[in-house]
Amino acid sequence: MTHDFEARAAELLGPGAHGYFAGGAGDEVTLRDNVAAWDRFALLPRVLVGVEHRDTSVTLLGRERPHPFLVAPMAYQLEAHPDGETGTARAAAATGSIMVLSSQTTTDPRQVAAAAGPADRWFQLYVYRDRGLSHDLVAAAREGGYEALVITVDFPFGGRRERTERSGFTLSHPPFVDGLAGPRSLAERHAMHDPSLSWDDVAAFGEASGLPVVLKGVLNPADAVRAVDAGVAGIVVSNHGGRQLDTVLSGADALGPVVEAVDGRLDVLVDGGVRRGWDAAKALALGADAVMVGRPVLWGLACEGEAGARRVLEQLVDELDGTLGLLGCPRAHDLDASHVARRPT
Ligand code: FNR
Ligand code: LAC
Repeated sequence: MTHDFEARAAELLGPGAHGYFAGGAGDEVTLRDNVAAWDRFALLPRVLVGVEHRDTSVTLLGRERPHPFLVAPMAYQLEAHPDGETGTARAAAATGSIMVLSSQTTTDPRQVAAAAGPADRWFQLYVYRDRGLSHDLVAAAREGGYEALVITVDFPFGGRRERTERSGFTLSHPPFVDGLAGPRSLAERHAMHDPSLSWDDVAAFGEASGLPVVLKGVLNPADAVRAVDAGVAGIVVSNHGGRQLDTVLSGADALGPVVEAVDGRLDVLVDGGVRRGWDAAKALALGADAVMVGRPVLWGLACEGEAGARRVLEQLVDELDGTLGLLGCPRAHDLDASHVARRPT
């Protein structure tokens, strides 16, 4: 079903928007590897353990969550469907998923919050050259009751994305952050980011927000250790969906060494290529606390708006539940390294 949305979205969206959403950097080596890498891990089940009652819940930022799926921050969702970010927020709320709202949202964060009701939501921050814009976003996130600030650190500037270079895709819907006055070409939008972003900025925005900080876009264990020293609450092992530097390591392959390096001192999330419930089971077995899902949710949104995004998330949770049963590990909390092996090549 998830895969049906992907094919239908390619037909429904114009080539410009579809290339923007689907595409990656360079030759898209990392984009493809993000999906392939999960398949290089094999599951190793236990039997006869009693799996009638299963529990997909996990603990994240000190709180129990019904399952480990978050909706990854994704820009410009009104370009995918008129339901936009509000539709995704409702789908996330209906399925107990945390939505991470992008700084490049095309809907006011407070409006998105109102649509989601009491559901948990996080806010993703880009640090722009114009720091005032980023501070305004933080203020809107605080007003909207967002629980955590996800600072994306793998985007000092945009990667080389040839699909959008070729199509010349421009936005039809103004991003909230700079509204009607803001640029509509992707090159100009990417130039808004501050390439001098540093650990000092992380501390400053963390302090200004008063929210727990999660760093998104860490692949190197040395940076993960640095994040522990910086006192952040969590990190997302991520290569930005293969959209930044082509040929970098997949999230799946980067995860294990990062988990080992941080040794439980902060929460570790992972994203990139998570397409099935069993991918998430592998991530948890490798030591992740939760996973983010990007494009599949967008394809659901593009095809059927809020209802489509909800169906994608429901399927993922259902697949994880089934995986726990057939893997002989009824509690997601109990997944560990004994449940995965490297598939022989
Ligand atoms: C993204 N991603 C992203 N990340 C972020 O921190 N802020 C953002 O605004 C965006 N925007 C964005 C737009 C689109 C169209 C995509 C596909 C991705 C990256 C995203 O949060 C996540 O890291 C990846 O998408 C995860 O990989 P999958 O699940 O798409 O393979
Ligand atoms: C992207 C940005 C906006 O990946 O994060 O397109």
